[in-house]
Amino acid sequence: MKRVYLPLIILCSVFTTLLSAPVRAADEPIVIRFSHVSSESSPKGKGALLLQQLVKERLGDQVSIEIHPAAELYNDTDGLEALRRNDIQMLAPSLAKFRAYTPKLQIFDLPFLFDDLAAVDKFQGRAKGKKLLLSMVEKDIVGLAYWHNGMKQLSATRPLNEPADAAGLTFRIQDSAVLKSQFKALTANTEVLAYADMFDALASGQVQGAENPWTNFDSKNLQQVQPYITETNHGVLDYMLVTNSRFWYGIPHHIRYELENIITEVTYAVNKAAAEENERHRNNVLASGKTRLITLTAEQREAWRQRMQPVWQEFSEQIGERLIHSAQAAN
Ligand code: LMR
Repeated sequence: MKRVYLPLIILCSVFTTLLSAPVRAADEPIVIRFSHVSSESSPKGKGALLLQQLVKERLGDQVSIEIHPAAELYNDTDGLEALRRNDIQMLAPSLAKFRAYTPKLQIFDLPFLFDDLAAVDKFQGRAKGKKLLLSMVEKDIVGLAYWHNGMKQLSATRPLNEPADAAGLTFRIQDSAVLKSQFKALTANTEVLAYADMFDALASGQVQGAENPWTNFDSKNLQQVQPYITETNHGVLDYMLVTNSRFWYGIPHHIRYELENIITEVTYAVNKAAAEENERHRNNVLASGKTRLITLTAEQREAWRQRMQPVWQEFSEQIGERLIHSAQAAN
């Protein structure tokens, strides 16, 4: 019953947003304020710059993209509320940040769900993955694309070989109930902190560990404060490029069509570069000589997987068993 009515709900919601779209004079440029929390040299930062460049080349004076990097305007959580108010028009939060708007996207935080970025890519490209882009339309948020960052690694002030090594440490996490539960399974503590506050919290000892893809670890210079990193690849950190639905469906069709084509092109470039970017940052981290790499044996990795497995049961009802199965099938 629920499934029959879902497309109708989305259609009605889009129709309502169309009726309430802000009025704009025909000769005024459309301004898209794109806020994000990363540096300009990060995968997300580069994606935003490429988007700005292609929009300028192809849409000239019709659309202008203003980029606000490094959380200069908002963190992801307050950024999402600003987007809903149409104070900004684009944001690309990590998928962990959407839980206030849909429980479904928590799927991407489940530990050891995806074997690698290729599996994540496959799932996101399938019908069920694409449908998630529209899972927040009723909250005025429309997903335009998935952008990859990379698989997450665990770092700490002491070596993490076995799950028991994490016990008692406090890890910085994104605001995600799944991630909180993941560390609880290790009998570790968590503290929810904005990305911008992570370095200082690690430096002061307020928290002793974190989980990041290689790109973020290196961009944030965590080599200075994390002497050990375990290559767990236990989860994914990806983004959803989102916009405000009232704003988006108020853009004249021919311009929106061109914007969508550009976004497809930028998405391809960002996602194609992801694996290479992580490799490059991994090399930087190891070359720094400050952070020691811990490589797990197959048995050790299996021990981490099994320890975190109960998290799946805890969230399977909220996320949906079928969705989890289809994600697994992408491996
Ligand atoms: C985080 O909070 O760790 C991530 O969302 C940062 C990012 O890459 O956007």
